[in-house]
Amino acid sequence: MKLTKEQKDFVENLLDSMTLEEKVGQLNQDSPSIVGGFDVPFGELIEMVTDGRISQEEFGKIMATAERDYHEDDIRAGMVGSMMGNDPKKANELQKIAVEETRLGIPLLMGFDVIHGLRSVFPIAIAEAGSFDDVLMEETAKMAARESRAYGINWNYAPMLDVARDSRWGRVSEGPGEDPYLGSRFARAKIRGLQNNREKLDSYVAACTKHFVAYSACEAGRDYNTTSMSLSQLHNVYLPTFKAAMEEGACTAMASFNDLNGVPCTVNKYTLRDVLKDDYKLEGFVVSDANAIRECVTHGIAEDDVDAGVQAINAGLDVDMGTRIYYNHLAQAVKDGKVSEDVLNDAVRRVLSVKVWLGLFENPYVDEEIIKAYEAGIPAEHRALALKSAEESIVLLKNDNGVLPLDKGAKVTLVGELADRADEVVGAWSLGWEVADCVSVKKGLENQNVDFEYFPVCGPENQINREELDLAINSKSDIVIAVVGEYKSMSGEASSKADITLPGQQRQMIKELVDAGKTVVAVLMNGRPLALGWEKENVPAIVEGWHLGIEMGTALTKVLFGDVNPSGKLSSTFSSVNGQEPMYYNHPNTGRPGSKSKFTSKYLDAPVEPCFQFGYGLSYTTFEYSDLQLKEDKDSITAEFKIKNTGKLAGAETAQLYIQDVVGSLVRPVKELKGYEKVKLAAGEEKQLSISLRKCDMGFYNNEGKYVCEDGLFRIYVGGNSVDVLEAETRISFE
Ligand code: BGC
Repeated sequence: MKLTKEQKDFVENLLDSMTLEEKVGQLNQDSPSIVGGFDVPFGELIEMVTDGRISQEEFGKIMATAERDYHEDDIRAGMVGSMMGNDPKKANELQKIAVEETRLGIPLLMGFDVIHGLRSVFPIAIAEAGSFDDVLMEETAKMAARESRAYGINWNYAPMLDVARDSRWGRVSEGPGEDPYLGSRFARAKIRGLQNNREKLDSYVAACTKHFVAYSACEAGRDYNTTSMSLSQLHNVYLPTFKAAMEEGACTAMASFNDLNGVPCTVNKYTLRDVLKDDYKLEGFVVSDANAIRECVTHGIAEDDVDAGVQAINAGLDVDMGTRIYYNHLAQAVKDGKVSEDVLNDAVRRVLSVKVWLGLFENPYVDEEIIKAYEAGIPAEHRALALKSAEESIVLLKNDNGVLPLDKGAKVTLVGELADRADEVVGAWSLGWEVADCVSVKKGLENQNVDFEYFPVCGPENQINREELDLAINSKSDIVIAVVGEYKSMSGEASSKADITLPGQQRQMIKELVDAGKTVVAVLMNGRPLALGWEKENVPAIVEGWHLGIEMGTALTKVLFGDVNPSGKLSSTFSSVNGQEPMYYNHPNTGRPGSKSKFTSKYLDAPVEPCFQFGYGLSYTTFEYSDLQLKEDKDSITAEFKIKNTGKLAGAETAQLYIQDVVGSLVRPVKELKGYEKVKLAAGEEKQLSISLRKCDMGFYNNEGKYVCEDGLFRIYVGGNSVDVLEAETRISFE
């Protein structure tokens, strides 16, 4: 986010003319309160639908009938700087009040959670990151920005950039997986897509990177739980995605709920001021997470609301989401000298700068006509992108004896309640979709004229229906497609799980089908990496479908029947059993790496290896890597290698480059992803590839939080996943 000199002057002049109260107003973010029959704040209602306390249908009914209080009088009084919502008409009404009826006419920021699409829902982030396709990641963000503006939103609470290593945490679904490098490329693509198309007012929004920071490192994977870690780990693992987003010009950030080494991120001066604002040069502002300033009292770091508010703003937390603590107490705190004018002005300047950058002072209104184009359904261009992103995110985990792709004429038995749940394909944190737009797996098969019979049998929570299972077992089909996994409410916020195996009786359903001699293809629909040890042993073919968005059923049918050759890779490691979590590929080496001998780092009752490793994913063709050579110049190392499609079909492959700093002043990870390239190869085709790595990216942060590059031996690995790799060594001296 860069402002011109004139824009900066405009902000300064405005700031000079503001009263203390008007300044405080800019730092207050309100949500509409639902009034009449359902008296909870809008933010909580969103949480209720997200965590499954109410269904999407119930939510829809409440929204259709409820009256909302948008706090118009507070807006009129200049006491609201931003509002949550996704109603274009209302957005225009509120902007009109802000612009025409307040003394200074400052427009509102209209914020909303658009995590993986709004009306056109794209794959959840953990899935989309596995496409390893930066252009695609940017395109879906660009589309989300356009839809957001059409719905009156100019500030997206996305991208979610929490690198997550523990699959028990429900919010793994919202982020780009476990790797800081992949996560950083995802971050850059998302910021570009959301923010960079500024020729027209209706095609960009301000991004809000979240949750800052280390929220995903919550102990035991339990949401909101405490986090503690070394500075080295914080900077090497949890901060890089945010650093990348800031380098790309991200406008805002949201502080996370957790405490980090004892200090809640809402009041954490080190992370907010020293790192984010001073080092990463955030020019926009930091917003709290919902109600998080008040939660500092519950954390036991602040005595009361006033204390919490004073600590928050002094630490660098600019905007209060939801508590009205700034609204109620900040002006007095400034008068009492607890908060300096400079601190207050700095926060207000940041908010005004984002509003100027968004062009809201020139035109705060959205074109209500645009939304009319969506009334008859999603425009074809949006649907095509949803399909492409779904296709590219599917990961083929197992395919014994070439079970897949299925013959076009195959007779199929389809089982699993999830197969027929169009409302489940959208995954967690999806708030603007309509069920009529969503294609379930069953619908996908129907649309593509597959010959099948369907027996729901069981879902993630209900019991096996014996009669239906017997019918499925006795059906005369060539193949059983079992759609199994999680409801969307089983991942996302406040959805941590201690057991991440297939929930309910779904495994039992598959077992009975396999035991009866059926050839089963398991199609997974889930928001987190599941522990799949049993399935890997017992099911001949497994397709990871995640929650792929509105075109899920179409994309999966195309993959199952070979119209699309799968090319997605895992953005996170999958465990075999629960107790292996947290599990991730880029762990530090131990002095006793797990092996056959007793006194090594392993379990007595579970493998030490992952079930499916980071970066892994099969294709209907095969790829062979060869001839790895390293070339070095002053500033970079280049890995040159050949990759050949050795099968009979065209396909796409993501070649991955990892490094290992063999000896360091701190124990270094066994491997770290540092580059990738996705290539398309015709059957039999061979290509020479080269992936370059800047030497300055081969260092790491030490325990003082300082970036160091240390001379010495490095191993360079190249391959199609984090385990099956070619290897070369080189000694590097940094200048
Ligand atoms: C979530 C955020 C979200 C906010 C506003 C919070 O509960 O943690 O990710 O942006 O609500 O809806």
